Amino acid sequence: MSNEHDSLRAIVWNNDALQLLDQRVLPHETRYLTLRTPEEIANAIKEMVVRGAPAIGITAAFGMVLAARQAFARDKNDWKSLIKKDFQLLAASRPTAVNLFWALAKMQQLIDNLDNYDDSTLLNEAQRIHAVDITDNYRMGDLGSAFIEPNSNVLTHCNTGSLATGGYGTALGVIRSAYRAGNISQVFADETRPWMQGSRLTAWELVQDQIPVTLIVEGAAASLMREKSIRWVIVGADRITANGDVANKIGTYNLAVLAKYHGVKFMVVAPTSTIDMNLANGEMIPIEQREPVEILKFKGQSVSANGATAWNPAFDMTPASLVDVIVTERGVVENPTLEKIQTLFR
Ligand code: MRU
Repeated sequence: MSNEHDSLRAIVWNNDALQLLDQRVLPHETRYLTLRTPEEIANAIKEMVVRGAPAIGITAAFGMVLAARQAFARDKNDWKSLIKKDFQLLAASRPTAVNLFWALAKMQQLIDNLDNYDDSTLLNEAQRIHAVDITDNYRMGDLGSAFIEPNSNVLTHCNTGSLATGGYGTALGVIRSAYRAGNISQVFADETRPWMQGSRLTAWELVQDQIPVTLIVEGAAASLMREKSIRWVIVGADRITANGDVANKIGTYNLAVLAKYHGVKFMVVAPTSTIDMNLANGEMIPIEQREPVEILKFKGQSVSANGATAWNPAFDMTPASLVDVIVTERGVVENPTLEKIQTLFR
């Protein structure tokens, strides 16, 4: 895979520490933070230094490597039980993206099966999770871009690219691949209030990788669909339930409803580590509620009337009936149903 239109990596393991590109200060500053303890890792996830479902999972896997190191240094006999509190701390960092719990469970299972502390086995597993995520993204890029007809205008939401994954991206990976194939005329991106993942992160990523991008405010999506003949809305996911319901960044559901009305196709791109077969439907997904201040203020400056309150769910749930296709690394599911998703796992 050439690195044309694919130059960024936000998660870097460096011998004894994890380096994370600090997504809170992008696009104006490009700085990597160096993290050495599970506490620092949990905090980085909570504070959105790193965000995006697969990226959170990968980061947590490295958090478990650091947790084991710290625990073993403290107590060579009882290190396994010392890790438990770090596991809980990492699991409590954000509630909606299931990749976090998926990656933690994988690391915990490995730890349970170890007779003796073995740093390289744990580190190899975290690095494998990271590497496989990138390979899966390339695969989803191929599978998803096959749906994109020549001269397509597409709309994406939030940030689902190299910043949100191990690299390349899910929805943004499909957009990268379709752009490389010459089939995308224009990429539109929602600015994605209140964290501005679209205008700060997606736009930055695409500009870095020489893919032209046009920003819109969320409120412009309906007019955009009517006036710019959008072919596809392409988004990622934080959790997909067994029946194909999709939790993703707040505003995704709006786009799905608008897409149905305007005859625009709706694609969700996510690795199978984002699918939670333990939940029957999207009503069961825990939706993160964030502080009202994120809406009431912008960079510390008030942008609302004194005395107003705000409701700030970070994610919403799009019912499977509004989804045309789910693209995973194991294959695509058109018009998702429980039966079709179950076959992915067979
Ligand atoms: O709050 P965030 O920025 O972590 O939300 C991210 C999203 O909603 C993404 O669309 C999702 O995690 C998929 S990332 C490949």
